[in-house]
Amino acid sequence: MSTEREKQLAAETAAELVEDGMLVGLGTGSTVAYLLPVLAARNLDLRCVATSVATAATARELGLRVESFAGVDALPRLDVAIDGADQVAASGWLVKGGGAAHTREKAVAAAADRFVVIVSSDKLVDRLSPPVPLELLEFGLAGTLRRLGTAQLRDVPRSPDGGVIADFTGELDDPAELAERLSATVGVVEHGLVPAEMVSTLVVARGEQVEIRSLR
Ligand code: 5RP
Repeated sequence: MSTEREKQLAAETAAELVEDGMLVGLGTGSTVAYLLPVLAARNLDLRCVATSVATAATARELGLRVESFAGVDALPRLDVAIDGADQVAASGWLVKGGGAAHTREKAVAAAADRFVVIVSSDKLVDRLSPPVPLELLEFGLAGTLRRLGTAQLRDVPRSPDGGVIADFTGELDDPAELAERLSATVGVVEHGLVPAEMVSTLVVARGEQVEIRSLR
């Protein structure tokens, strides 16, 4: 069974969790790319926000109503956010940001009552491993990199918020400890570690089977 088929099945299953009238956060990546047409085809009355410029453009082309999530007049809360992940540990911790969208993805997930993570089975790991995506402030960048010790700049465009994309490549023995350290490092705008407590539902496709796991 191909990974692409599993992504499609996970996305189709998650699309069914969305109900008419909901405020929906749309993630970023190749798994979410399967979600958008299925969600649009349901013709529900939805108000969506997108975690990337690419997702916003595709969703709008498909006829989904996408609103800005910037500023004080934007939606303060969402009913559900649906997004992929790069790694899902047995503990429920995630690594996100392979597509460099982790800052906006975490902002959208944090605003949602329910955060649904959709993955193919190859994303499941016993323990998380580096790299951990980072978004860094341009100002003071050299010092931030020095304080991080083991981080490499990624050769990709800036984030839509002007952040420099990098990857932390050091030890990842304890995700909670590393997440705390990265969050406390001045110059780190956001990192790609997501605690299990943030994840409501994990939708994992393995072959033709889809498992819906409730985490909270
Ligand atoms: C983008 C992300 C994606 O959700 C993650 O990289 C998974 O992507 P894909 O669905 O293409 O495997 O965090 O920043």
